Amino acid sequence: MKIAVSGKGGAGKSTIAANLLYCLKFDRIPAFAVDADPDANLGLVLGLNPEELAALPPLSELQEIIADKNAGGGAFVDLNPAVEDILEEYVLHMGTIRFLKMGGIKQGGSACYCKESAFLNAVLTNVLLDRSESVVLDMSAGIEHLTRGTARGIETMLVVVEPTRAAVTTALAVDRLASDLKLPRVAFVGNKIRSEADRDYLRASLPQDRILSMLPFSEEVLERARQNDRPELLKEDLLPGIEVIYEQIDGGGDQV
Ligand SMILES: Nc1ncnc2c1ncn2[C@@H]1O[C@H](COP(=O)(O)OP(=O)(O)OP(=O)(O)O)[C@@H](O)[C@H]1O
Ligand SMILES: [Mg+2]
Repeated sequence: MKIAVSGKGGAGKSTIAANLLYCLKFDRIPAFAVDADPDANLGLVLGLNPEELAALPPLSELQEIIADKNAGGGAFVDLNPAVEDILEEYVLHMGTIRFLKMGGIKQGGSACYCKESAFLNAVLTNVLLDRSESVVLDMSAGIEHLTRGTARGIETMLVVVEPTRAAVTTALAVDRLASDLKLPRVAFVGNKIRSEADRDYLRASLPQDRILSMLPFSEEVLERARQNDRPELLKEDLLPGIEVIYEQIDGGGDQV
């Protein structure tokens, strides 16, 4: 399973990404949990140790390593540096899951962040195209880390949508970006559904044949988000309906 999760801020991307990762963990499937949202919070939602998370440097900030990896390239940027060692060293473990924090690339100004971008791209290429582990990418609505190249490695992009006008507008914008990148499959997941009216609203607002599922609003999920130290989830803590999504996007598949 190689998937990316996107959608408007607060729609539930990290919650859904974390729930899918737990499904993989319960099935003992090796997977990478990639926090690709510059405003990163997947680690906390997964229940990783907050101190260890804070101590894990984002990959975009590994200045010396990035400079070293480019040493052979001289003035040129090495577009394909070896990154296997990074996936051993700069990760946190949770069962069969390895957690990676990408970090953001600064935009604007006159400085060039080409080396950082090339490095992150090499990491994504490695996990998405070269390796057999499953991957769940938690992204922002901008899906800025993806390129035409890495997009080829994503089987399904899940766009999380709350039943609000703003979330729908963002979801349709993500759908257009994904289509520009030629992602093979984009599917919508309704989240925080409280009523039949919520369901009807999303059915009327999104391409119906691509709505994969609608997940209920859950008091338990919200309650967990208020805890300081989030515990690892048990099977019974999963969001009702997540298994259906997991099965539909081919849970278990160890595809390259
Ligand atoms: N189905 C749900 N029922 C109740 N609360 C939910 C549900 N899904 C997510 N939430 C809550 O909504 C809030 C936002 O969820 P989450 O952090 O997963 O969103 P996000 O899209 O990753 O946000 P951000 O853009 O800030 O990264 C959290 O407090 C989370 O616990
Ligand atoms: Mg998030």
